[in-house]
Amino acid sequence: MTTARIDIIRPDDWHLHLRDGAALASVVAHTARRFARAIVMPNLKPPVTTVALAEDYRQRIAASLPAGARFQPLMTLYLTEATPAAEIERAKASGSVVAVKYYPAGATTNSQDGVRDLARVYHVIEAMEKHDLPLLLHGEVTDPAVDIFDRERVFIERHLIPLQARFPGLRMVLEHITTRDAVAFVSQAPAQVAATITAHHLLLNRNALFEGGVNPHYYCAPILKRETHRAALLQAATSGDPRFFLGTDSAPHVRESKESACGCAGVYTAHAAIELYAEAFEQAGRLDRLEAFASIHGADFYRLPRNRERLVLERTPWTVPAEYPLAQGSCVPMRAGKSMAWSIVDG
Ligand code: NCD
Ligand code: ZN
Repeated sequence: MTTARIDIIRPDDWHLHLRDGAALASVVAHTARRFARAIVMPNLKPPVTTVALAEDYRQRIAASLPAGARFQPLMTLYLTEATPAAEIERAKASGSVVAVKYYPAGATTNSQDGVRDLARVYHVIEAMEKHDLPLLLHGEVTDPAVDIFDRERVFIERHLIPLQARFPGLRMVLEHITTRDAVAFVSQAPAQVAATITAHHLLLNRNALFEGGVNPHYYCAPILKRETHRAALLQAATSGDPRFFLGTDSAPHVRESKESACGCAGVYTAHAAIELYAEAFEQAGRLDRLEAFASIHGADFYRLPRNRERLVLERTPWTVPAEYPLAQGSCVPMRAGKSMAWSIVDG
């Protein structure tokens, strides 16, 4: 008998791009409808590098929420080679900043202020280890000699294994993992090492980028990988291992920035995030493990209370709009114009 209803603890999104200004106002309701909390990425222009900037941004997010929404943004700092170690202590004391995000300079959207040489931020990472503030890693090398599909694997070999050996007490999350190499690394690592997995990397392999022609709306960082990697991610997400949890990496860009001679990286999934994960878990025959992945593992890792509210989905198909408004333009969401199997039951 197929399941007709999913009733889970209200989930959280542990990796999300909300943007700012008019774009923030366009997208935040999609996330707030589904998730109780989200870790908000700091890659704005200019980046969110201090606790003061994070607090201002948190207030702008709160002010953009629809009336009555119960949604808590959890803030992050953007690590640069100029970040003072003292900022880590301030972040820990703030209560609103829950982690620090590492972007390798040049790896993705607005990463130009990121880190070129990890050794130059060792003193900051040492402060994070000391104050127990998690480091969130965009785990890709930007070495032009490394093939784009190998960027994550090489990052693990060159940087992550040494980093973990140097800072054994550091809590870290390898964000939006895309390879079986990342699954293997996290699976054998100690409990303070975790990973987020996106819905699009659970549902798509790299063929999606080229099906019938170039599909810029499936271009994201890290790039989609081959089917064996997708299968390894799905296995990890549905395994019940508490180190793997939900992070959509929903990353809206206006249509013109995607459908371009040099298109931006990012897939927009916030409009149907939990519904997409439900499809992936159902494919694996493991809907029974969706709640742990979406609502329990992340909260436990960040040592935050599990949510008390619930979210109910029912098997009622709906069609994703061709586009959603995004600031003065529009954004093409994942599954645009196509059908979704699961709907949220308002409650
Ligand atoms: C993200 C964005 O657009 O901000 N893009 C993406 O492809 N995931 C940045 C990121 O997380 O790499
Ligand atoms: Zn991201």
